[in-house]
Amino acid sequence: MAEQTGTAQRPVLVVDFGAQYAQLIARRVREAGVYSEVVPHTISAAEMAEKQPVGIVLSGGPSSVYAEGAPELDTAIFDMGVPMLGICYGFQVMARALGGTVGNTGDREYGATEATVTGDGGAILGGQPAEQSVWMSHGDAVQQAPEGFDVLASTSVTPVAAFGSPAKKLYGVQWHPEVKNSEYGQNVIENFLRNVAGLSADWNAGNVIAEQIERIREQVGNARVISAMSGGVDSAVSTALVHAAISDQLTAVFVDHGLLRKGEREQVERDYVASTGVRLITVDAADTFLGHLEGVSDPETKRKIIGREFIRTFEKVQLDLVEEARASGEEVKFLVQGTLYPDVVESGGGSGTANIKSHHNVGGLPDDLDFELIEPLRLLFKDEVREIGRELGIPEEIVGRQPFPGPGLGIRIVGEITRERLDILREADAIARAELTAAGLDQTIWQCPVVLLADVRSVGVQGDGRTYGHPIVLRPVSSEDAMTADWTRVPYDVLARISNKITNQVPEVNRVVLDVTSKPPGTIEWE
Ligand code: XMP
Repeated sequence: MAEQTGTAQRPVLVVDFGAQYAQLIARRVREAGVYSEVVPHTISAAEMAEKQPVGIVLSGGPSSVYAEGAPELDTAIFDMGVPMLGICYGFQVMARALGGTVGNTGDREYGATEATVTGDGGAILGGQPAEQSVWMSHGDAVQQAPEGFDVLASTSVTPVAAFGSPAKKLYGVQWHPEVKNSEYGQNVIENFLRNVAGLSADWNAGNVIAEQIERIREQVGNARVISAMSGGVDSAVSTALVHAAISDQLTAVFVDHGLLRKGEREQVERDYVASTGVRLITVDAADTFLGHLEGVSDPETKRKIIGREFIRTFEKVQLDLVEEARASGEEVKFLVQGTLYPDVVESGGGSGTANIKSHHNVGGLPDDLDFELIEPLRLLFKDEVREIGRELGIPEEIVGRQPFPGPGLGIRIVGEITRERLDILREADAIARAELTAAGLDQTIWQCPVVLLADVRSVGVQGDGRTYGHPIVLRPVSSEDAMTADWTRVPYDVLARISNKITNQVPEVNRVVLDVTSKPPGTIEWE
């Protein structure tokens, strides 16, 4: 399968020293309106030069610069004349490479720390309050700045908490400006981009759309294209973007596997189509999927069946479309995928090697399909994808959607999946979603699985009679990337409303319980 890469913009390169911070820094740079890419610390100065960076940011990392095997950087990179900002570990790497000293004084700083700006703060801290709260996480510290560098900030235990050289355009901070807990963090990043690197804010959704449309047209020519829609944000936006480029050369396929949430099919068939004009085929495959799932309780087996049936269904449609195209002398050559930048980086794609994890949001497409891929979102973060979706006129209910697993409600019923159980869960889920939205919590909550414990029953009382119903679990979580998560502290009165409504309106449910486990040790989904 071919891949599609690149943008005309020259990037700010964020060097990844192996912690999870690099992606967050790359996002913050883009939030400041400047295009950025993540590269591994093993990149050579020559490879870096090929990418023609307009700025370089060295990220934080988990190691001590002195530790054996600590990640290093080709020191020739410091001589490239590209403006550079070192952060935390990256700050220490920079200090050491340029002749400063880094040591372990035994004083560690973790969490919120008071920093004092020295003098006028230079190009990166200028104009900020002299005393500010910053987020620290380090054992080692820069003890002496390299020659020719001004010390720009200090803390009670770290004499050199920030430094810079206007002549060399090299700057660094010991703290993490990319995390929100650093009061003026985003301002540090913006100051670096504007004052040191001289970059203006010209990376935005409109530019991305225009550039991608041109690129897609070039790639596709007159061929026909298929896109699998899952109802999720990524496939909705990638499909709309490709449609904006090649209009009815594209056919979108939406598989209703019977495991969708209430109103989801209508949203795609009616609202999405109305707003984008995409030619959509819905395949009604609920009977097939549910037939194969009969009697199956094991979560892994459920996933396998759903994945397999998805492929079968999709292949059938694909054959029809290929024949239809042939009849009119055309060819179906391309498949749209909603791969995002974090998938590309995490699978090594950020290293410039083409090792792409196929992240199939819809439950797994066959790897041997004879298609070239169109991946118009592969350089984008989720929030950028949403922004582009809005620009393309996709309804907010779809663009603002929280993540929802490809296997759908199938993995939110603990026990066998039946039509009746799906109906129960669909009602409970719709009530919980509506109440959370009404309470204005959609931005606070990353996602809120609503789970039916179909194999559990307990005694309750309703009216004059005893009931023997199922529990529903609410699993609201807050997260940045779904890798880790914490349970969201939803206000009690909102929880009370959800519980009342579910137990009143869904007769088979007589208890609503709240999951108060973080991830790890829990996962987000129950299954
Ligand atoms: P867990 O439960 O592993 O989930 O903490 C992490 C994130 O992944 C989503 N998820 C899936 N997404 N297909 C998907 O497209 C799947 O099979 C799948 N399983 C879990 C989950 O909703 C959460 O956002």
